[in-house]
Amino acid sequence: MLILGIDTSCDDTAAAVVENGVKIISNVVSSQTDIHKKYGGIVPELASRRHIEMILLVVDEALKGLGAGLEDVSAVAVCYGPGLIGSLLVGCSFAKALCFSKNIPLLAVNHLEGHMFSCFLEEPHPELPFISLIASGGHTSLYRVDGFGKYRELGRTRDDAAGEAYDKVSKLLGLGYPGGPIIDKLASEGNPKAIDFPRPYLPESFDFSFSGLKTAVLHFLKSEEKNSKLQTTNSKLAKDIAASFQACMVDVLIRKTEWAIKKEGIRRVTLSGGVSANSELRKRMKEMGDERETEIFIPSINLCTDNAAMIASAGYHHFLNKDFAGAGLNPKAYLPL
Ligand code: KG4
Ligand code: ZN
Repeated sequence: MLILGIDTSCDDTAAAVVENGVKIISNVVSSQTDIHKKYGGIVPELASRRHIEMILLVVDEALKGLGAGLEDVSAVAVCYGPGLIGSLLVGCSFAKALCFSKNIPLLAVNHLEGHMFSCFLEEPHPELPFISLIASGGHTSLYRVDGFGKYRELGRTRDDAAGEAYDKVSKLLGLGYPGGPIIDKLASEGNPKAIDFPRPYLPESFDFSFSGLKTAVLHFLKSEEKNSKLQTTNSKLAKDIAASFQACMVDVLIRKTEWAIKKEGIRRVTLSGGVSANSELRKRMKEMGDERETEIFIPSINLCTDNAAMIASAGYHHFLNKDFAGAGLNPKAYLPL
């Protein structure tokens, strides 16, 4: 069964075709980074306008190579939230029109469920139950997953998401957007022990809190003397700040995941969302898995950040459950899993 997935939740216009929820036939992502980077973050109005310009081209590209094109597709799965409302509206309206014109079923997928299912697009697949850590630009949450639709949130961020903290620290350092990949690279050349930033462990809770860590970087930079040393973004100090910030972030994400493994007694973990592209996090998570005899599943980099293959994969299960959406589907900026 072929499912066409569509995701326009943020600043990437994405479409993909996936067979039986696991095999990627095509996976097309049109990035808007060049449009937003000069503003140091996503401008929602520009994002939705660009989605309108790109959606037809991206969907066409994803369908290329299928014999009859859309006629081969059993259903269209669209991300209907959470995300930027104007951006979501473009994908949802487009998907509804496609389904109406071709008389094919529509499937409504939560973006976070999509990230969770990105781990099923490559071999080996995790068996149930598993612990799922989703760390992206908009969310950071830990779930216990007992089956499709059976998710129990163990904890979530009380303020900034992990990726948001990366983006804000990058901005504080005068670096570009998105900050995650930039800090990741810079950190690899710095000393992670150079600055002792706080590690917000929030004992007795699976919740996260990263805004204090970001503010600690801000206070550190306030000293004019230190600011002057930062003049070149490649300075030793900038590298040390990046490495020290990242060490805190990774320590917290790993420690919470370890607690979840212990408390739930589950030795399988999936890591997904844009921050799971982070080289240090991927390395440390695998090391932790080896130490704790726990299987760790992390998708390839292109499946960590936003894509529509993950939406089609989750959509497949909605199809099997006959959980179809109607023409009345409305996007939702806030949509808990
Ligand atoms: O999942 P995603 O593509 O979009 C959302 O659903 O938010 O995640 C984007 C986030 C951004 O904040 C970006 O800075 C972060 O993922 N990110 C990274 C890396 N690559 C992307 N963070 C840390 N290290 C990376 N290599
Ligand atoms: Zn995402």
